[in-house]
Amino acid sequence: MIRKGIILAGGRGTRMSPLTKAVNKQLLPLYDKPLIFYPLSILMLAGIKNILIIVNKGQLNQFRKILPEKNHLGITIEYKEQLNPAGLPQAFTIGEKFIGKDNVCLILGDNFFYGQSLTKILKKNSNFKLGAKVFLHPVKTPQNYGVAFLNNKNKVIRLVEKPKKTNSNLAVTGLYFFDNNVIEFSKKLRPSKRGELEIIDLLNRYKIKNKLKAELIGRGGAWLDTGNVKDYYNASNFISTIESRQGLKIACLEEIAFNNGWIKKGDILESIRFYGNCDYSKYLKSIIA
Ligand code: G1P
Repeated sequence: MIRKGIILAGGRGTRMSPLTKAVNKQLLPLYDKPLIFYPLSILMLAGIKNILIIVNKGQLNQFRKILPEKNHLGITIEYKEQLNPAGLPQAFTIGEKFIGKDNVCLILGDNFFYGQSLTKILKKNSNFKLGAKVFLHPVKTPQNYGVAFLNNKNKVIRLVEKPKKTNSNLAVTGLYFFDNNVIEFSKKLRPSKRGELEIIDLLNRYKIKNKLKAELIGRGGAWLDTGNVKDYYNASNFISTIESRQGLKIACLEEIAFNNGWIKKGDILESIRFYGNCDYSKYLKSIIA
């Protein structure tokens, strides 16, 4: 059972500069909510209530304003600072104490996932026990991501970080499940040519031991990039289109917590008071009406 999740919301955010000079990327609006709501919603949909959010040095208070440790979401939030960003696997050394002896799910703070199949996949994987699990999604520009090569039995035979040329279109998304070995494996990693600890190298440690599994998020699901300004706006438009059509919100944290039975009406009323008079609050009112 996976009970703990880490959101890595550090990084330099240089591709979105100057937007990210004063504000952390994960706090920028993705349509009608801060970006961080979306990865947090994924952890909550997976049933994960213990959350560690890793942020850049000096940005803790910005995050606390919107997601305080003591919150009305029925989850516990802890924060840690990433003092010198040096790659994704740092999440597991920074989070060593938080993880303790448990398994852990990592989600990158700028990853957007959507789709009916996704909730099913998350629920199915929430009793994950051993090894590592990655979630793959077909993309047009695999060279921008970690890429997985599968054999005809859907087993991962190779993982490469941002290959210049590739005949696989399966990107390794920023959602990973790991057993507790992840802490020790992360400590043994050495920086790559680009000077960072690479998540692909970490996953390869599991692969060598035959402990890496992959799950496909097929074309019915969406994994959108928020890497640069254009992609960011495309993702915002996607959310706007779905929400306007359905009258339902994507990544409404209180709604997920309420549906999971983690919070009561009173908590939602507290959230409404906190957010004030806005569209999001109106939506919250409709949940408990
Ligand atoms: C990172 C990982 C890459 C993964 C991507 C998903 O890339 O290194 O393997 O496919 O996240 O968002 P980065 O965003 O650091 O370029």
